[in-house]
Amino acid sequence: MLGDLVRLRAMEPSDAEALWRWNHDPQVMRWMQDNHPQSLAQVTRWLGEERTRNEYGDVLLGVEVQADDKLIGLVRLHGAEPELGIAELDIYLGEKNYWGKGYATDAVRTVCRYGFDKMRLHKITLTVVPENEAAWRAYRKVGFVQEGRLREVFRRDGRWYDQYTMGLLAGELIDA
Ligand SMILES: CC(C)(COP(=O)(O)OP(=O)(O)OC[C@H]1O[C@@H](n2cnc3c(N)ncnc32)[C@H](O)[C@@H]1OP(=O)(O)O)[C@@H](O)C(=O)NCCC(=O)NCCS
Repeated sequence: MLGDLVRLRAMEPSDAEALWRWNHDPQVMRWMQDNHPQSLAQVTRWLGEERTRNEYGDVLLGVEVQADDKLIGLVRLHGAEPELGIAELDIYLGEKNYWGKGYATDAVRTVCRYGFDKMRLHKITLTVVPENEAAWRAYRKVGFVQEGRLREVFRRDGRWYDQYTMGLLAGELIDA
């Protein structure tokens, strides 16, 4: 699906090297809940064979820049149940030289539009560490509002951080 700047598309097994590299970059993972390290072979297997196809409860999409077709990150809507119509959003852009150019804002807006229009979600939620200013600014810009504050739930470099919970209702999405 197309935004103004990015294209969102299904992930391919050949994306494994990029995903593996981003997951091992401390700057990219600074505010992300990271898993234990995985080998390139494990990430390749996960993308190619183990992961089930995109479905209502878990939609994982690569973020490509329209101008040069470069894969720069991914977005995910997960945890949705038809009875509730609420999904959680994650985004990370692993190619750091593409930061600060509006790609995250456009990718978040585009996947939210997909969630509301195609999946008929009622609400999209997320959590973010407030120190991650670029992320919460992008979320605010497309209409997410802060709904709560979880005290000391994220640990990094020997310190605990709070997280904001944010939410966006169908009809609240702000267009570019
Ligand atoms: C956070 C992240 C998604 C932002 O992506 P991005 O493409 O650089 O964001 P955008 O260019 O759309 O910018 C969003 C807003 O943040 C601002 N911003 C960008 N970089 C910033 C920085 N380093 N510090 C403060 N604000 C910054 C932009 O100016 C913009 O705000 P504005 O429109 O009000 O001026 C990206 O840096 C990333 O993936 N980081 C690693 C993973 C991560 O932290 N994911 C989010 C977890 S909740």
